[in-house]
Amino acid sequence: MTGHEVRLEDYKPTAFEIETVDLTFRLDPARTIVTSRLSMRRRNGEPASPLVLDGDELTFVELKIDGHAAGSDRFEASPSRLEVRDLPQTEFFTLEIVTEVAPADNTKLMGLYRSSGVYCTQCEAEGFRRITYFLDRPDVLAIYTTRIEAPKEDAPLLLSNGNPTDSGDLGEGWHYAVWHDPHPKPSYLFALVAGDLAVVRDDFVTASGRPVKLEIYVEHGKEARAAYAMDALKRSMKWDEERFGREYDLSVFMIVAVSDFNMGAMENKGLNIFNDKYVLADADTATDTDYANIEAIIAHEYFHNWTGNRITCRDWFQLCLKEGLTVYRDHEFSADTRSRPVKRIAEVRLLKAHQFPEDSGPLAHPVRPLRYSEINNFYTATVYEKGSEVVRMLATILGTEDFKRGLDLYFTRHDGDAATIEDFLACFEDATGVDLSQFSVWYHQAGTPVLSVGSRYDTSAKKLIVDIEQSVPPTPGEERKKLMHIPLRFGLFDPQGKEITARTVSGIEFSGDVLHIRERKHAVVFENVIDRPTLSLNRSFSAPVNIRYEQSSADLAHLARFETDPYSRWQSLSDLAMRELIRATGATRDGQTVRCDGSLIESLLTTLDDSSLEPALRGQAISLPGEADIAREIGTDIDPDAVHAARSGVMDEIARHGQDVFENIGESILPGGRYSPDAEAAGRRALYLAAISYLTRVALPPEALLPIIRSADNMTIMSGVLGILVHRFPGSAGAETALAEFELRFRDNPLVIDKWLSIQATIPGPNTLERVLQLMGTRHFSIENPNRVRALIGSFAAGNPTGFNLPDGAAYDFLAGQIIDLDARNPQVAARILTAMRSWKSLEPVRRERARIALSEIAQHSPLSPDVRDIADRTLGQ
Ligand code: BES
Ligand code: ZN
Repeated sequence: MTGHEVRLEDYKPTAFEIETVDLTFRLDPARTIVTSRLSMRRRNGEPASPLVLDGDELTFVELKIDGHAAGSDRFEASPSRLEVRDLPQTEFFTLEIVTEVAPADNTKLMGLYRSSGVYCTQCEAEGFRRITYFLDRPDVLAIYTTRIEAPKEDAPLLLSNGNPTDSGDLGEGWHYAVWHDPHPKPSYLFALVAGDLAVVRDDFVTASGRPVKLEIYVEHGKEARAAYAMDALKRSMKWDEERFGREYDLSVFMIVAVSDFNMGAMENKGLNIFNDKYVLADADTATDTDYANIEAIIAHEYFHNWTGNRITCRDWFQLCLKEGLTVYRDHEFSADTRSRPVKRIAEVRLLKAHQFPEDSGPLAHPVRPLRYSEINNFYTATVYEKGSEVVRMLATILGTEDFKRGLDLYFTRHDGDAATIEDFLACFEDATGVDLSQFSVWYHQAGTPVLSVGSRYDTSAKKLIVDIEQSVPPTPGEERKKLMHIPLRFGLFDPQGKEITARTVSGIEFSGDVLHIRERKHAVVFENVIDRPTLSLNRSFSAPVNIRYEQSSADLAHLARFETDPYSRWQSLSDLAMRELIRATGATRDGQTVRCDGSLIESLLTTLDDSSLEPALRGQAISLPGEADIAREIGTDIDPDAVHAARSGVMDEIARHGQDVFENIGESILPGGRYSPDAEAAGRRALYLAAISYLTRVALPPEALLPIIRSADNMTIMSGVLGILVHRFPGSAGAETALAEFELRFRDNPLVIDKWLSIQATIPGPNTLERVLQLMGTRHFSIENPNRVRALIGSFAAGNPTGFNLPDGAAYDFLAGQIIDLDARNPQVAARILTAMRSWKSLEPVRRERARIALSEIAQHSPLSPDVRDIADRTLGQ
């Protein structure tokens, strides 16, 4: 926590190994005593260097070396480190370290803390050092035995990693339990939970016939809301066996839901700890999106058991080794479980909304960075989402069979290791003989590549000639860029809309339907195409790149109609819409009224009306790019009010032309019968909500929405229509009544109230800042709970372009004040919320200057955590 820079090139293995760790916790909210007995081993030939263990805000109590109390001349202890000198010269020795910690005062929610009276831990990335002095780095793998002692009444339940081996009574109302984890693991995967929780149980039998007990722990009374998570867990376990041949390796798998958690969830060995938002669900309180998130996150953390736990990271620079790969695995799981194209569209939307702006702004960094000053700030969209896309490209380049061979080799070769990206890539090279050196640039170079494309059809020669040029815009610290290997899926369509499958391609290496872009420039020739064809590039989004192709609107409309890849059909529509939205934004700024091109409207409405498409796709098709997407595409001199007005104007026109179609969709599209969160039903609801949203622009007044909300039998429709009502008619009697009724009904369910907070925080326009301030004063807000903070302040800063980007900078100043307050309590959450300002440099000059002043105010504040200091400085460009 020193705030100095850590560099990959400085990596050195430790001089000492820790073979076993025996922990004893004597739990007390204010004064927990932790005894850690380490069996140490000096590596071959290591000189008599002192041993330096990491700590963070620790109170040192005692040190024993080989069982004897160490005199103060043999060590130096501070809250952040323990240096032991004059060690025994033997190969093996033991250390016994006693520390004291105060879980109830731990507001950072890293290390051992209390959440609603439950003791729990979060150790990734560097939280274990807040529990005891340790070599707190992922390449130190040890076998852990954990003994927990606590008053029975406070903590009837005592959990840690691995298998339970002993438990009993200690007298005077205390009891204990012992857990043993036979798998060597890094300290960041350690976990402990103690408290009074209810449990939901189930069983699973692995493919090789081993029984596993499944347990999900939740607050008493919430058991029924864990059923979906349990179902998702069983499906994840089965899928990982079938798709990747990976079995679970302990006799029990536990998940604990807690209400105070910095992140979404954590993959601790055998004892995952979750933000309760990603466990608890029922029709009355959870939306379709909540269900999909629960399924994906349960899967993600479970999948880490192989990609992260059995094979972990050598150092934190390799974070994408576990996170990128595991995101790829959870994406594939959701694609197999739900609808592949719908999932792909959602992934690309998310990637473009979060990763693309990161990659083009001051926080840009490679998927595998070379330096960090605060590792918490590198759990980014680039490491996660781009990291997953890189794995996906590898699968595209190698093909299914070879990709599997490489991955299988990785699982066998590196089981039990702390590995690197080089190790990972070597497995694919060794298994297939393919040279991945150029491909590896994806891990090392920041920035979103651009492909500039031009094409012409040679009528007499019956050839389509396509010029493709690659480039990567400069990013902080990286002016010159290397050439990349970009796998680009393509398709060709004839004027009748039929796909041309017989193709002769020259001028480029290609396999199947993938072009391998490797040079700066390629002149690709498609031969023997009888009529001028329409080219579809980057099908299924085979590479995370920006394509600049001046394709005519007619060609895009052609693809929007005839593309057989549903993802690309959506992409073409979305490109078409984006052009129109950018044009409309320009018109708005010039004081003109927004007119919308007829062919866009026709393309949208044709897709909307195409009953051969699944409803979810039709819903996606008519959901225009968001305001942040438009701003990203425009790139500079952004006026968020103009973007909002333009988008709203385009939607008005679509609604006017499409009123009949939208009315036809109406309620008839909704699934019948009892609520089910399955993808098909969810898709119908999504389409219904999209239609309602358009209809409020032509027909539906606020009074008509209120009854829909009141009679909804599920949270998706209820909160969806509430959002439409409140955003479209802010301050109207209908909107305020609906908000009040919702609050009354759900006032005792914080996770539902989070939706109520977010909906209000994202009301467009200049009055929302005041509303946010007012909501902060209500009983529903608490600066102490990360979910509340994210729902209100996070949504306002990251999800409300017009409300947050006020020309006078008032909301920036508000955020600066909140970040400074929050930083003193929970730096990790503060730093993350501050990333909402990462694109400030693309604002128009007046707002840009206001944003700079607010950022500088944060940067100049003292004291500041390393987390917020790092984000503030890099965002400012210092
Ligand atoms: N290992 C992370 C949790 C984590 C993140 C710990 C940051 C420490 C710092 C976990 O596997 C994870 O990635 N969780 C995600 C959700 C996931 C589905 C992408 C999260 O918490 O947001
Ligand atoms: Zn993860």
